Amino acid sequence: YGYYFPRSSIEKQRYPDPRENIPDIIKMKTRQDDVFLTAYPKTGTHWLAEIIYMLLNKRLEYNTEYVKVSAMLPLQTPEMVDKLSSPRILNSHLLFSSLPRDILTQKNKVVFVNRNPKDVAVSLYHFCRHTINYEGSWNDFLQLFMSERGMVYSGPWHKYMMDWDNVIKDNSKLDVLVVNYEDLKMNPLKEIERLAQYLDVNNSTDFYSQVSDRCRFNQLKDDYKNRNDPFREVVFRKGDVGDWKNWFTVAQNEEFDKHLTEKLTNSSWTFKYSVKE
Ligand code: A3P
Repeated sequence: YGYYFPRSSIEKQRYPDPRENIPDIIKMKTRQDDVFLTAYPKTGTHWLAEIIYMLLNKRLEYNTEYVKVSAMLPLQTPEMVDKLSSPRILNSHLLFSSLPRDILTQKNKVVFVNRNPKDVAVSLYHFCRHTINYEGSWNDFLQLFMSERGMVYSGPWHKYMMDWDNVIKDNSKLDVLVVNYEDLKMNPLKEIERLAQYLDVNNSTDFYSQVSDRCRFNQLKDDYKNRNDPFREVVFRKGDVGDWKNWFTVAQNEEFDKHLTEKLTNSSWTFKYSVKE
């Protein structure tokens, strides 16, 4: 299917084999109020999932009932997803072609998270070191990240972005809301209001402002201490824009920029590499 999901021993204990679920996901029935949260790994999906949960439920409570309302496709079987209560938040790192065809019939809401790929690469490097014990160097990792088959985690970043760029441009298919990690970081209230409008959930500015506060990096990181998530330390690692500058050499940066120009030709993506942009 074009994915690469190396599984940590913890994931093997907790979840069924994703390879068995992928063909069935396409056939899954969706519900009209399902929200699909779609993003390449390490773009801030946990953050968005908490915000969306608060907005949909109109409560300033964290998504501690994660397993009751949310799923990470393809880690759960369609039967497991079917048992979740509405409104469901269905996360995935999948290409559009692997998601349920029913999304088109139900015209489900799809929130796509975009983050500058240099910070994504650094974040994913740390994630892979902690979860699947990746032992190569940063440079080896970066080469894998840029490689055609993208054999790091999930699949090639550039193919994922090109796939979703096509879906987003063809908005006769679906109305997708793109949220930029950097915008959310710099202007959370504005982005949360935009999200609420897209999700058709009206609330007060005061409520949105409290959602923003409760979902700040340190607040979420603290709350995760009480949750049974073995990867929480690395999922909430730094939460900064521009950490890539501590990792990329000048030569790596030039190589990466060239890679982006080659691979994302004709796409509409733009990226914010520092908070000043
Ligand atoms: P870093 O590794 O750069 O710190 P995902 O949820 O998709 O796995 O993404 C994880 C990344 O999002 C991590 O990036 C994490 O720190 C960052 N993140 C999580 N919550 C955040 C928040 N409230 N504000 C800013 N960044 C956040």
